[in-house]
Amino acid sequence: MSYFGYDHENVEPEASSVVESLRSIGYSLETAISDIIDNSIAADASKIKLTFHWNEKNNYIKIEDNGRGMDEGELTQAMKFGSKSPLETRDPKDLGRFGMGLKTAAFSQARRLTVKTKRKNGNYYVRCWDLDIINETGKWTLLKKAYNEISLSSLGNLSEETHGTIVLLENLDRVVGDHYTPKGYNAFLSKVNALEKHLSMVFHRFLKGKNSIAILINGRQIEPWDPYLLDVDATQELIDEPFMDGNQKIKISAFVLPHHSKITKHQYDYGEGPKGWNAQQGFYIYRNKRLLVAGTWLNLFRKEEPYKLARIIIDITSESDFNWQIDIKKSTARPPQELLPEIKRIGLLTRNASYRTFYHRGTKVIGERNNQMKYKNAHLWEQIYKHGKSFYKINKSHPMLLKLLEDLSIDERLLNSYLSLIEENAPVNLIAYKPTTESTNENTTSEITKDQKNNLLNGLKDLIYAMRLLNYTDDQILYQLNNIEPYKHHPELVSLSLEGYYE
Ligand SMILES: Nc1ncnc2c1ncn2[C@@H]1O[C@H](COP(=O)(O)OP(=O)(O)O)[C@@H](O)[C@H]1O
Ligand SMILES: [Mg+2]
Repeated sequence: MSYFGYDHENVEPEASSVVESLRSIGYSLETAISDIIDNSIAADASKIKLTFHWNEKNNYIKIEDNGRGMDEGELTQAMKFGSKSPLETRDPKDLGRFGMGLKTAAFSQARRLTVKTKRKNGNYYVRCWDLDIINETGKWTLLKKAYNEISLSSLGNLSEETHGTIVLLENLDRVVGDHYTPKGYNAFLSKVNALEKHLSMVFHRFLKGKNSIAILINGRQIEPWDPYLLDVDATQELIDEPFMDGNQKIKISAFVLPHHSKITKHQYDYGEGPKGWNAQQGFYIYRNKRLLVAGTWLNLFRKEEPYKLARIIIDITSESDFNWQIDIKKSTARPPQELLPEIKRIGLLTRNASYRTFYHRGTKVIGERNNQMKYKNAHLWEQIYKHGKSFYKINKSHPMLLKLLEDLSIDERLLNSYLSLIEENAPVNLIAYKPTTESTNENTTSEITKDQKNNLLNGLKDLIYAMRLLNYTDDQILYQLNNIEPYKHHPELVSLSLEGYYE
């Protein structure tokens, strides 16, 4: 539909007021630099060098990468506010979203942004936005070269590579203000310190393992920070569950970190992370491996001391962005309404386990991590969300099923068709047309008839028998039963059955 037939006028935004207001989106130095690093990672860089330069007349921050670089047209486009529509589909590796990050992140800290870039076998191209020039001309005036000689020499050329991009931030009025004093210098240094901790957290999955990237600050390589202390045996992994949000796969892995008496002082200090033990509890939301939010209970629960050992990974992809309401700064995310009951359930479970470990009760809940392989994938059902409804599929990698299939005398086809029968006739699926937002009512025991109770007890008996056969400890059985339908709604029946009360 064309609107040209309408009587209209085109109203251009006022360049200077748009830019000045974009400065106040609320980036911190940490979120700003992370956003610029996202672009380097999306451009396939394997090395990203940050330089923080303090000099009375010319302090600057420089981010240099060895990514694929840009040609001249791409560079101009990249400098444009809104260079890509947020509605465009992104490559799964792309960490961008709004086509704004480079600009909004830069201007949240600095009054001048210069980008110099080079593709392999291409020329260098430079573009520069200077807020004072935009204010003076009142137009979107983009310079095609460095602002002055000082900027030019600060930019330099790519130090080692034949392709890549240099982002230069100058006039850092929001980083240190105008205080070129020793005090200002100290403030600058401590900001750089905090930034290092932040980056080692946000990009920890990129900084380690195959195809890892290196991030250096003033020549020093930063180390990844692992929030889950995976190298420590006493860390418990409670849950490792995939489930679907529409067509998107989401994965949740819940960890309870060790009681401080089970780890060394060094490990304890390490585990504290950038914000401290208490603040780091909760969900950790990753989008395409990149950590967006580190330690939040998503307004479901409060942060309290006994729960500080609980840290839960939620992995989403960029295709779920809109469902998760990712903001421009990539510092907040909100789960879609229909996933909340599931997230709340896992949150509760992990918090309870943290509580027990914190107070030394129930001592070792799940056992050493190395013995946990059989506990992995131990969920019976996988929950699938479609069109706002939830369905359940049988987890075909359940350890008991795998064990059964090892037995050659078992007819695999028969077994599988039996399982499908169960799947299709599962009461939860038959009543799938209930709204998924309905709360799961974790702790309240529902009223049940005597018959229902007997059925539950029989089922429990069989399951407990089978799990003991597989050498599960009672604590492990307790955890699992309290985590699956329909037993999770009847914790007292579970405990009493385990204690042999109904034998
Ligand atoms: N370091 C870089 N290397 C290569 N291309 C880049 C780099 N930084 C930015 N770009 C290009 O500029 C575009 C705009 O970046 P940005 O404003 O951060 O928005 P977004 O990341 O959401 O696309 C990117 O999509 C990318 O094409
Ligand atoms: Mg970006």
